[in-house]
Amino acid sequence: MYLVLESIESRAKAPMTNDEKEIPMPRESLQTLYEHELKDLYSAEKQILEALPKMINAASHPDLKASLTEHKAITEKQVDRLDLIYKELGKQPENEKCKGMEGLLKEGDKAIEEFSDSDVLDAAIIAAAQRVEHYEMAGYGCARTYANMLGFSDQAELLQVTLDEEGEADHRLTDLAEECVNIDAMKV
Ligand SMILES: [Fe+2]
Repeated sequence: MYLVLESIESRAKAPMTNDEKEIPMPRESLQTLYEHELKDLYSAEKQILEALPKMINAASHPDLKASLTEHKAITEKQVDRLDLIYKELGKQPENEKCKGMEGLLKEGDKAIEEFSDSDVLDAAIIAAAQRVEHYEMAGYGCARTYANMLGFSDQAELLQVTLDEEGEADHRLTDLAEECVNIDAMKV
């Protein structure tokens, strides 16, 4: 063990070879992570926009249908905000699919196929939608914090607006579930 440590230490102290000096190391920073988070959120929002019509169609409770329909319009504005942020950064949104959101939406899709009772299905749609909201809230919260730390205060404000909207949507879904949808599902 001592010999291994000694060889690591001597390697660390050894001067870089010419080959090592010539390899440009990619520079990663909080800004790299910020842009990664934005890319993830952009793809997540786009996937949500595609998935919402099926969820709206599958929902029965009028308040749930209305809430999801309203959230679709809100999501379009959230994409616009991300576009604005990209414009400010002088970058184009990358076309890389967010696998986390893809998985969550696939599970939601599976629930729609699995439950046939309309009340239980409504409760399952709320559960799926809340998973989506929580994923987004985590992403927007991190991105907002990074933007603030990087001095992009305007971008942080835009991200905070979306974060607040996701939080409100989540609370509305909780109220809807607790006040009627879950209760109706219990009566089955
Ligand atoms: Fe969203």
